[in-house]
Amino acid sequence: MRGIILSGGSATRLRPCTKVTSKQLLPIYNRPMIYYPLNTLLKAGIKEILIIVAPERAGDYLNLLGSGKEFGAKFTYEIQDKPTGLPDAFVIGENFIDQEDVCMILGDNIFEDDLSGEIKGFNGGGKVFAKEVPDPERFGVVEFDKDRKAISIEEKPAKPKSNYCVTGLYIYDKRVVEVAKNLKPSPRGETEIVDLHNWYLKKGELEVAVVKGEWIDAGTFDSLLRAQNFAKEKMQGKMII
Ligand code: TTP
Repeated sequence: MRGIILSGGSATRLRPCTKVTSKQLLPIYNRPMIYYPLNTLLKAGIKEILIIVAPERAGDYLNLLGSGKEFGAKFTYEIQDKPTGLPDAFVIGENFIDQEDVCMILGDNIFEDDLSGEIKGFNGGGKVFAKEVPDPERFGVVEFDKDRKAISIEEKPAKPKSNYCVTGLYIYDKRVVEVAKNLKPSPRGETEIVDLHNWYLKKGELEVAVVKGEWIDAGTFDSLLRAQNFAKEKMQGKMII
């Protein structure tokens, strides 16, 4: 399985702190933010990792992470010229993915759990990782049955059908590349990852894995602060890098 860390974007919600650097390079306690999603992939044994970055920050990522040798892995870099949506990662990554399954994680997502069992256990179709939250109406909400097959996914629904939101970790088989290429932008001008999920869901091939431990999307000042404290208190023993 190949890995992708999507680490571009504009991080407008963290201005001015992201005016001259990338969100995913900001410190989360004693490590740059991207170390946390990288840790999640490396723990799952994924050694070939594509890091997608914004053009103006590419040099910083190369300086920080290099070839991957230091981490026992091989890193490839691609530039996303404009942040046109999460599915763009699979179009940019077409050659890198090269007929393999692919596990994508967002560069600002921090998972407490060791998800290696769920990642290694992937066997075709799509898999999303869901977390129970008190305020599902703020997120993409996934409803699923007792066999963990997804039944529906709705973006920020007024009446959520479950308390489980979709986090920033997804696994798909190689078909994702062609599906991503054919997506049309939504009214907000970006292609939407939920359209990929729905493609697999309609075929009955979207599985849901439940995240039990903490999950933080560190994209706002409040969640960034929470991530800092959480990383200090709970993540130190869970990092292999
Ligand atoms: P977001 O947090 O939705 O967007 P952002 O990081 O640009 O921040 P803001 O909303 O404050 O402007 O993105 C989620 C993650 O995906 C984040 O790690 C950035 C990344 N991303 C890309 O790399 N390229 C993209 O086209 C998009 C939409 C996001």
